[in-house]
Amino acid sequence: MTISRENWASRTGFIMAAVGSAIGLGNVWRFPYICYENGGGAFLIPYFFALFTCGFPLLMLEFVMGKRAQGGAPQAFESIRPFMAWAGWLACLCAFTIVTYYCAIMAWSWDYIWYSLKLAWGDDAGSFFREHVLNMSSGPGVLGAIQGPLLIGLVLTWAAIVAILWKGIKSVGKVVMVTVPLPVLCLVILAIRGLTLPGAVDGVTYYLQPDFSKLADPRVWLAAYGQVLFSLSLGMAVLAAYASYLPKDADISNNAFMTGLLNCGFSFFAGFAVFSALGFLAYQTGVPVQDVVESGPDLAFITYPTIISQLPFWAPFFGVLFFFMLLTLGIDSAFSLVEGFATPLKDALGITHIKVVIWISIIGFIIGMLFITRGGLYWLDIVDHYVSDYGLVTIALVECIVIGWFFGARKLRREINETSEVRIGIWWDICIMFITPLILGYFLISSLIKGITEPYGGYPVWANWIGGWGMIILVIAISVFLGIKFKRKEVQ
Ligand code: ALA
Repeated sequence: MTISRENWASRTGFIMAAVGSAIGLGNVWRFPYICYENGGGAFLIPYFFALFTCGFPLLMLEFVMGKRAQGGAPQAFESIRPFMAWAGWLACLCAFTIVTYYCAIMAWSWDYIWYSLKLAWGDDAGSFFREHVLNMSSGPGVLGAIQGPLLIGLVLTWAAIVAILWKGIKSVGKVVMVTVPLPVLCLVILAIRGLTLPGAVDGVTYYLQPDFSKLADPRVWLAAYGQVLFSLSLGMAVLAAYASYLPKDADISNNAFMTGLLNCGFSFFAGFAVFSALGFLAYQTGVPVQDVVESGPDLAFITYPTIISQLPFWAPFFGVLFFFMLLTLGIDSAFSLVEGFATPLKDALGITHIKVVIWISIIGFIIGMLFITRGGLYWLDIVDHYVSDYGLVTIALVECIVIGWFFGARKLRREINETSEVRIGIWWDICIMFITPLILGYFLISSLIKGITEPYGGYPVWANWIGGWGMIILVIAISVFLGIKFKRKEVQ
């Protein structure tokens, strides 16, 4: 059977889609905190090292693999070594797992747009979030009921994903022209507001004050690699899927540089918006900046609402703006994760794109309901830890080994250079063959040793087994099954 392949309407559409996938919730609530935790301004050294040795090389690798195979991650791996298709399916399934909880976080954001109108969290944003919005149970063993308002947010998120992916990359190419610049605009407004508040300078000083002693700690370097992988959507099957719609003569290296730099520039800038606001909170409450710093859900759904309540004017407007920014940031990452799975599945099954998208979305929605139960946040935390720290790292490591050692880094670099504006040199081979696999291998082994000796996050062992190891084993088993079941269809 022959399937004709559509192409991106423009190069800008492709770059914006890749940037939209990369810039997501992780840039706002993960990067500034990780930067602060791991040496402030000094963290930029390992971060840029990780960007150059892992970020750019793997971006190019995933782009060129998708383009040359004219297929998603499984087909790309299969075209290198037929028995390696499972690794591509593993990337798809990791992306699918991520999107199930990513959409739950977006569901919270929908609700917070509504709550922002009346600053519904009052004086205690922490209790409001945990007791009212999530209605958290005592632990992962008590799931409890699905939270009604969150269910509305979850439905809206999945409905938006289906609507955007309805016409495949044609609609994606148009939507990202709005969903990429819009959060940037929101962030600029929030940064200006943050930087003009009293105490802002203290916050920013905290964010960037270099602590060079931290650079001796290997965990700081691992944090930089972890952040680069997650943030650039590497190992998530997305970039290969997007690149599979590129024409054969499309540029690779320059597109990768632009994607990486825009994403990291956004992260860095987000730090100013976040930390200036934290400085203001410290100023208002008299608590030192280091004690108001939070990461992840707490930063976005507790600390930021607290800051918004303290703003001298237009507080509801800035609340709505912040959560609207989270939604626009998240949506293009969320639909890219679905597309990363939909593209290869559609090619493998030979059925229409929209049918695949609808099925993935229905199953994703059903699984996602777990994360909006009363025990949902515990499960979200466990699943996120295992899929990011083990799943993504394994895939990136396999990519380096398969290309660097089986296929030949030099051979693939030549293919990249054939159509690229910027010629890349031997440094690329060194990164793919040695530096990145060694660091990721070390990362994986040290995480495994730690994970085996102590259950993650203080959760019970059985919960680590179900949401962590069990989930990983299941995902690998399904990937191997899919790799064996689907043989490549002929693609024009
Ligand atoms: N790259 C996406 C993010 O940072 C998944 O949120």
